[in-house]
Amino acid sequence: MTAFDLSAAQTELHGKNPRTILKTALANFDNIAISFSGAEDVVLIDMALQLGKSVQVFSLDTGRLHPETYRFIEQVRQHYQIEIEVLSPDREQLDAFVKQKGLFSFYEDGHQQCCGIRKVEPLRRQLAGLDAWITGQRKDQSQDTRGDIPEVQLDTAFSTADKPLIKFNPLLNWSSAQVWDYIEAYQVPFNSLHKQGFISIGCEPCTRPVLPNQHERAGRWWWEDAAKKECGLHGGNVKKPS
Ligand code: ADX
Ligand code: SF4
Repeated sequence: MTAFDLSAAQTELHGKNPRTILKTALANFDNIAISFSGAEDVVLIDMALQLGKSVQVFSLDTGRLHPETYRFIEQVRQHYQIEIEVLSPDREQLDAFVKQKGLFSFYEDGHQQCCGIRKVEPLRRQLAGLDAWITGQRKDQSQDTRGDIPEVQLDTAFSTADKPLIKFNPLLNWSSAQVWDYIEAYQVPFNSLHKQGFISIGCEPCTRPVLPNQHERAGRWWWEDAAKKECGLHGGNVKKPS
């Protein structure tokens, strides 16, 4: 990896399209991976392969994904003939948590602890071995938490004292409609839950379909405040109270 000039890349990529952002990401980093949720962020995999680049892909298997999502992850693996690392939570932490609080404590005391064990800890382990990662975050997913994020950033949540971690958000400036145009135009496989009214897809107990005109993240952790609807994967997005 050559020295990466973050501030120059931020200026250069400001307002740019996904392909350009992805191309810069893959040109600057070899040790980089796409974080694939099993939803419409599949377009990142399609685009990376269209660019002729092989790229690492991983998914965080919380143990609570929909059956459709597991099937879709497998479909993507076979369709593109790629390896997908499917990461499990730490068994000791998970066993102790479920023993103490059961399987649905997030409805009572919020999703942070469960997400912390099932998503954030495995992500931290994975990111420790990478120089950069690629996410499917978009501005239009949430004005509250994603309206201000840049195309490329220093990941303040997962960088360590001796290793900075760069985070690319290639889909940032695309709307949901543009993502779906791409899926249609290039015949990209998609999660069958999207045919059942699901837009944003996370874990089964914490995701529900949305009604017409409801915002897509209204179906995620619907019992919580919109400004807190981040699970820690993108912890830097949550604004501190002023
Ligand atoms: S979340 O933080 O609220 O769950 P969201 O579902 O909007 O995130 O997805 C935004 C991006 O976070 C995805 O495009 C993907 O890069 C990453 N992500 C979310 N969930 C997962 C997952 N289970 N495995 C891997 N990456 C994920
Ligand atoms: Fe747990 Fe729900 Fe977070 Fe999944 S989204 S890890 S089930 S709290």
